[in-house]
Amino acid sequence: QKVKWSEFIKSAAGIEGWIDDDIPEVLFVGRSNVGKSSFINALTNNKKLAKISSTPGKTRLLNFFDINKGLFRIVDAPGYGYAKVNGKMKEQFSDMMNQYMETRPNLKLVVMLVDLRHKPTTDDLGMYKYLKYYQLPVVVVGTKLDKLKQNEIKKNEKMIRDTLELKPSDGFIKISNTDKRNVNEVYDEICKRLEV
Ligand code: GTP
Ligand code: MG
Repeated sequence: QKVKWSEFIKSAAGIEGWIDDDIPEVLFVGRSNVGKSSFINALTNNKKLAKISSTPGKTRLLNFFDINKGLFRIVDAPGYGYAKVNGKMKEQFSDMMNQYMETRPNLKLVVMLVDLRHKPTTDDLGMYKYLKYYQLPVVVVGTKLDKLKQNEIKKNEKMIRDTLELKPSDGFIKISNTDKRNVNEVYDEICKRLEV
């Protein structure tokens, strides 16, 4: 087990709730129901750390989690995709999310989760383009690997890479929160990117 310690620190609705220190933060983004909370729990081997979808789309808060006593923080973002998308990319996300992603010095990496079973949606595409626009380092994590048939694995990875037009510098890791396949690989990738 790579994560020896994990703890919920706080939720924050805006900048006044952010933590003032130099600990690097990894932001988790993805459509509602993609498995963000499940992944946080799988990664930390802590079933109760992040709440698994009760009412998707209700939360507007960022949730901060300490990993290994200050090694880094995971920041769980509200799922997108439930809100109506209107023309401008920016408006897909709340002002709070924009402010966090555009100004937070602690933000060192974004883990973007996509469902391996489906072609990325317009929302996924908007998010990925937004991250590229702000030159944020990204690791794409494909969830629900356990739901794919053997012959779909390569095919769906290609579909996702092609649809998002993934840059070679962006990692792509296929995981299952159910059987925990490749979950620790994401931890290793995070540490590599953060140089911790
Ligand atoms: P929001 O908080 O609404 O944004 O959703 P979320 O992205 O946090 O999704 P959550 O972790 O709550 O998971 C949504 C549903 O998908 C739950 O029923 C999970 O049990 C299921 N799920 C998550 N990951 C996996 C996976 O890897 N495999 C399978 N089979 N189911 C998964
Ligand atoms: Mg969640």
